[in-house]
Amino acid sequence: MSTSTTFEESTTEVTDRILSQVTQPEISIRVDNVTVSFKTPKGIYTAVKDIDLTVNKGEIVALIGHSGCGKSTLMGTISGMVKPSAGQVYANDKKVEAPGPDRGIVFQNYSLLPWLTVYKNIEVAVQSALKDLSSAEWNKLVEANLRMVNLWEHKDKLPGQLSGGMKQRVAIARAFAINPKILLLDEPFGALDALTKSAMHVELLKLWNLDNREKTIVMVTHDIEEAIFLADKVVVMNNGPAATIREIVEVPLKRPRNKKDIVHDPKYMEIHDRLLGLLIDKFSIDDER
Ligand SMILES: Nc1ncnc2c1ncn2[C@@H]1O[C@H](COP(=O)(O)OP(=O)(O)OP(=O)(O)O)[C@@H](O)[C@H]1O
Ligand SMILES: [Mg+2]
Repeated sequence: MSTSTTFEESTTEVTDRILSQVTQPEISIRVDNVTVSFKTPKGIYTAVKDIDLTVNKGEIVALIGHSGCGKSTLMGTISGMVKPSAGQVYANDKKVEAPGPDRGIVFQNYSLLPWLTVYKNIEVAVQSALKDLSSAEWNKLVEANLRMVNLWEHKDKLPGQLSGGMKQRVAIARAFAINPKILLLDEPFGALDALTKSAMHVELLKLWNLDNREKTIVMVTHDIEEAIFLADKVVVMNNGPAATIREIVEVPLKRPRNKKDIVHDPKYMEIHDRLLGLLIDKFSIDDER
């Protein structure tokens, strides 16, 4: 009797272990106890503190929080542009020490090279990230990505001759063109009108689907609807200084998601309410809270 119990226990343990190995998702980004402090004329300012975050391969994660809470700073540590004061970040199994072509970035301020045309801005990016391709292949990539963001007609303009939304679309085309394993998007659609924004959501998901949903995407947004439509989980940050992660809200809505339909899904409404509650303290001018 006792032998049989022991046997049952051990087979259950073995099954659990095998199952957990089989279902263990591959980790794409690991932010490990990261703190970032800046030297300022008024002393040391700690923007984010003790941040732990794991993003699995193929996940889409939205980062949300009030202005100045440290979203761009955290993105900077993943991209390699910001060095953590404590802790470390791993991306694609390597410690992040500097930016690299495995991580494509759309910066909040677009960061285009002002002396290069729209076309050239993307061309130099693909040339440096995808060195093995031929010039015909580079040209094809630049054209396809400029057409995707509807800027082919404007390819010879300089960034200074573009509107904010157009600059943002060039930055998106540039990040997509190098087809990185990890896409880091810092308010990528913030300057776009609602229609263009919707079209870009579809393009982003198309790119993700094309890549068998293996591309990892981390995106900063202020838009709750956008976060729920696109993300698998939404990371809500506390206000700074020394901002931490307040809560991670899972978005278990099945894909493909239809923008028109999901808003009626009770699960969507529940997530929307939760995020609103976490981000907004007062819901009307009479609220006493
Ligand atoms: N290089 C720097 N030197 C000093 N302080 C900085 C530096 N970069 C960021 N900070 C400060 O760190 C805090 C977080 O800034 P960050 O840009 O990460 O915020 P954010 O959440 O991206 O805000 P927003 O939504 O407005 O883009 C802010 O108080 C900012 O002033
Ligand atoms: Mg920012």
